[in-house]
Amino acid sequence: MTSTFLHGFATASYQVEGSVDVDGRGSSVWDDLCNREGAIVDGSSGSEATDTYHRYKEDVALIKELGANSHRFSLSWSRIIPLGGADDPVNPLGVQFYNNFIDELIANGIEPMVTLFHWDLPLALQKRYGGWLDKEQATRDFVNYARVCFSHFGDRVKLWITLNEPFCTSILGHSLGVHAPGRSSDRTKSPEGDSATEPWIVGHSLLVAHASAVDLYRREEGEIGISLNGDWCEPWDDSEENIAAAQRAQEFWVSWFADPIYLTGDYPSCMREQLGDRLPTFSKEEKKLVLGSSDFYGMNHYTSNLIKNKSGPAAADDYQGNVEYTTVGPNGNPPALGYQSQCGWLQTAPWGFRKLLVWIYKRYGVPIIVTENGMPVRGEGDLPIEQALNDGPRVDFFKGYLENLELAMKEDGVAVRGYIAWSLLDNFEWAEGYIPRFGVVYVDYTTQKRTPKRSAHFIKQWFEEKQEKE
Ligand code: NOJ
Repeated sequence: MTSTFLHGFATASYQVEGSVDVDGRGSSVWDDLCNREGAIVDGSSGSEATDTYHRYKEDVALIKELGANSHRFSLSWSRIIPLGGADDPVNPLGVQFYNNFIDELIANGIEPMVTLFHWDLPLALQKRYGGWLDKEQATRDFVNYARVCFSHFGDRVKLWITLNEPFCTSILGHSLGVHAPGRSSDRTKSPEGDSATEPWIVGHSLLVAHASAVDLYRREEGEIGISLNGDWCEPWDDSEENIAAAQRAQEFWVSWFADPIYLTGDYPSCMREQLGDRLPTFSKEEKKLVLGSSDFYGMNHYTSNLIKNKSGPAAADDYQGNVEYTTVGPNGNPPALGYQSQCGWLQTAPWGFRKLLVWIYKRYGVPIIVTENGMPVRGEGDLPIEQALNDGPRVDFFKGYLENLELAMKEDGVAVRGYIAWSLLDNFEWAEGYIPRFGVVYVDYTTQKRTPKRSAHFIKQWFEEKQEKE
């Protein structure tokens, strides 16, 4: 792996590109979900987003101006192969767009970090065979798509991420039904789905598809890994049962994917105990394929929670390890889980970042690239732009999280190879639409004008100092 510390910002295709029916792009499951009544809080979609499809040069200039040496973005599978499948044609205009984008980054001295799948599965594959519910077909098609990407872009892209947050595709997409393809046992959310079984089947397919694409890439020169999300799970108090509950919650979240990849080739035992044969089993070949299938740990991290044990048997749709997540501690709301962001799930807790970095590094022992970290300021979208640009709470967030990153590296010896903030721009925040703004750059959605916020200047300075110290 390159010895330079990677620093920059991240985006994802459906959240920024727009132009969903331009130049031959096929529909994705997200285009479809956005058409479903009530699925997106503000009734919006990614059809225009930040118009990065047309404004990529302006965005690359911004990335450069903000001092990044790396940029993480994702490819839209249905822009490259509109119908998605191994026997379906490749769209030369889609390939051209990404070639232009990659060339522009490189011409500006910015290393591309490319995610193959950031949730926007071609709709045709969902309709054809149920998408990730069909391990064999989805793996075959994903590997073919990966092969197309490696062969068109691999001469310039040397850092790949197969999947972004498979947890979300599995749980949010196939249990809670709030993300595409929007399946759930809850019939108010979805006409079909089974929250007790589908998330585990999908998670398994994603692991096998990821590992198969990695296996293909291993013949190339470059590095490849996966990005996993995870909150820090802090025991609610120091009772034995809550300490054990927090550990279980951490394993259900992080180790579900990380143990098979980095540790054992199998799921953690607490998951097997709770889920029994609803959790698929790895064949011998799959185990071999999956174990060791990532050159680094891509860590997406935002927040922490306090975890309490739940007594009695776990519910059929429980995916958290039979625990209760809370932000209120034994003595009222602990100040450590301080600022409540625009997203209900995101309270700032920089100390939790350090604890999770240490936990991951101790358990898995691979270098970490922080592939996402960021925060939407509460009410930012309602403020006049001059006030929104003065985003003090986001500056405080980055200050705290970056300090803890440095502590984890220096005091605790965690090997961190890079830090990528989420996000470069305000953008389409999935089921929350355009309400939360995660960008360090403000986007005026009527004019598409981009203006760096105070946090952009703060991060730029941190990048500069980091580079000087190298
Ligand atoms: C996780 C996802 O990868 C990204 O797409 C999303 O916008 C951010 N976290 C914030 O929720």
